Amino acid sequence: MLELIDIHKHFGPVRANDGVTMRVEAGTIHGLLGENGAGKSTLMKVLAGFISADSGEILLGGEPLEVSNPKESVTAGIGLLHQDPLLCLPFSVLENFMLGRPESFVLDPDTARTELEDLAARFDFQFLADATARSLTVGERQQLEILRLLSLGVRVLILDEPTTAISATQRALLFATLRKLAEEGMTVIFVSHKLEEIDEICDTATVLRAGQVTGEVVLPVSSSELVSLMFGKAIIPEERTDVDLGEPVVDLRNITAIERLVRLQDVSLTARAGEVIGLAGLAGSGQQTMLKVCAGQRKPDAGTVVVHGEDVTRSSYNHHMGIGVHWLPADRLGEGLVEGLSVTEHFALAGDTPQGFVVDWAGAGEEAATKISHFSVKGTTESTPESLSGGNQQRLLLAMMPDHVELLLMEHPTRGLDIESAEWVWHQILERRNDGTAIVFSSADLDELLRYSDRILVFFAGRVLRELVAADADAEELGYLIGGKERE
Ligand SMILES: Nc1ncnc2c1ncn2[C@@H]1O[C@H](COP(=O)(O)OP(=O)(O)OP(=O)(O)O)[C@@H](O)[C@H]1O
Ligand SMILES: [Mg+2]
Repeated sequence: MLELIDIHKHFGPVRANDGVTMRVEAGTIHGLLGENGAGKSTLMKVLAGFISADSGEILLGGEPLEVSNPKESVTAGIGLLHQDPLLCLPFSVLENFMLGRPESFVLDPDTARTELEDLAARFDFQFLADATARSLTVGERQQLEILRLLSLGVRVLILDEPTTAISATQRALLFATLRKLAEEGMTVIFVSHKLEEIDEICDTATVLRAGQVTGEVVLPVSSSELVSLMFGKAIIPEERTDVDLGEPVVDLRNITAIERLVRLQDVSLTARAGEVIGLAGLAGSGQQTMLKVCAGQRKPDAGTVVVHGEDVTRSSYNHHMGIGVHWLPADRLGEGLVEGLSVTEHFALAGDTPQGFVVDWAGAGEEAATKISHFSVKGTTESTPESLSGGNQQRLLLAMMPDHVELLLMEHPTRGLDIESAEWVWHQILERRNDGTAIVFSSADLDELLRYSDRILVFFAGRVLRELVAADADAEELGYLIGGKERE
């Protein structure tokens, strides 16, 4: 059905795709697996007409496919679902559904509405045609985008890491939808670096490493085999060591902070030096607001924040940074890094050497080069963050962390990272703990919460439903609590 033959795509010295050949049959779900920076997104962007390959050939149903932009590719029957669906947020669901079709000038809204409702009913999607796209969750935006691509007649549906930001329920619905589509003869390409997902949903898979194919497999195969194809070696999880806890670093008392959709109410938390506290909960249950209050990014409506005995409830974010509070946001490109600025420029900005009006470019360049090699960032001092893969953006953020941090706050520290990068990131974080840094992090990954936390606070509807000692808890119990229920 679909053949990509000897695809090459280089970005300067980086061989993102270095002779990739992949074949996919109609009516199957094909996985594209590989570590961060392996070249998965690049290959899919070539296929969907977002970028053009330097060389290589694509055959669709035996015919050469010549596309130079996404619109031509959709017309040819290939649709790409981005990790963050590209919707027009102020528009309604129906208007978004109607976008991008050649006959959009004449398509009447009533016909479109019926088509949207029929399609939604077929897959059990529940959203209102007149709601604004902004009011949809990431999972619902994906569902809408899938329906839009289906109504445009695509026969090949590509999903690039579709499960990173959606709930377990939405994931189950997405998988059921993909199975149904494959049964109806659709070709589905599922991009991921999560082995369990590839195993659960795919019939066959191609594994990439450093721009080249390292394996083609028919599932199921053992995880250890996939891991060695992905990384060229086995990954052995690091054993966790305990550290003695010190004095309280941060003390939050009876915090209330009301935002539009989140009502954080009367939450208290104390973190001691060397302690790791995990915040669990569905998106929007209050964990993120709590972290922002800790970081000084948002002032609480009631309650107090004390860091090392100093009341910082009303202090600025800058003041928090000055006393050793460090924040690593989930939205790496939006909040953590600056698009368009090079790595060297990031170090010049983040540098704490006060030198008046003069920027020490040589110093920043040297520091950037040293940190790039120490943190194994795949990029150069001139790379901009948007040209780095997700895993490398996270490495860069960690590389920019000051030497001394009292309180480290992190949202989804390993979201989008492959196992090797995730292990590496936690190794860096836990080293900080040995120096007495207190760590508070949120995560949607139950195993991550259980493995790295000392204590876990489970948030539900803006309150802490339960506090657990991680060593005594299990994923099932945690799963129930996150949904607001005790284990049955
Ligand atoms: N526009 C670009 N300019 C320069 N380099 C790029 C660009 N896009 C991608 N790259 C580089 O190409 C390589 C492959 O990136 P790609 O995004 O395809 O990886 P990926 O397998 O999708 O990784 P991830 O799992 O982190 O999403 C990386 O080293 C990346 O830095
Ligand atoms: Mg990618």
